[in-house]
Amino acid sequence: MSEPLTFAVPKGRILDEALPVMARAGLVPESAFHDKGNRSLSFACERSDMRIIRVRAFDVATFVAFGAAQAGIVGSDVIEEFDFSELYAPVDLDIGHCRLSVAVPQDASAGQASKASHIRVATKYPNITHRWFEQQGVQAECIKLNGAMELAPSLGLAGQIVDLVSSGRTLKDNGLVETGTIMQVSARLIVNRAALKTDPRVAALVETFRALTAQEAA
Ligand code: PRP
Repeated sequence: MSEPLTFAVPKGRILDEALPVMARAGLVPESAFHDKGNRSLSFACERSDMRIIRVRAFDVATFVAFGAAQAGIVGSDVIEEFDFSELYAPVDLDIGHCRLSVAVPQDASAGQASKASHIRVATKYPNITHRWFEQQGVQAECIKLNGAMELAPSLGLAGQIVDLVSSGRTLKDNGLVETGTIMQVSARLIVNRAALKTDPRVAALVETFRALTAQEAA
């Protein structure tokens, strides 16, 4: 029998919305997946030809791009940031909706911030951020953080941040306001291009998710 396919899912908020979609595709992880005391990172699946790994969102893209996992679910923000040629994102799952936005302290003059020709931005997305500001003729020095971006302006690390916004609560609670939206984000099914060509199970998986989202839209 061939090796099981590895399906990568992100820790965090997308997962709660992704699990029901995965279940409709027959991807139900073993019960240990939900056991908070269990430190395993790889789980058996109801479908015996698949296993599920749970990693950070950015690492989902890396595992799939390098073929260590053949498929997975990740936000379009992560796909855009990496721009890996081996990643193919054929299905918008219509879950995990949020936006990637620029924000500044409430008391900062928005005019002042946008007119500067050189600015410092704290973000998890240096590539997207750099490109976006470049299009506005602004040279952005990006300070890479892995979380808690909202702290950067008040502590003098950066004048602006680029981060995901969903309800807007985190920005508000940290005295920040949005000044621009870089992109709307939703979760996508991603597959490794080489695996898609060589393993019919990957193509079948794409068709299954495609059919599911078409049903949802109907
Ligand atoms: C994300 C994001 C913001 C927050 C926005 O962080 O980085 O901090 O959610 O959501 P809101 O607009 O609904 O307040 P998350 O909680 O996913 O954790 P992370 O910082 O570890 O990515």
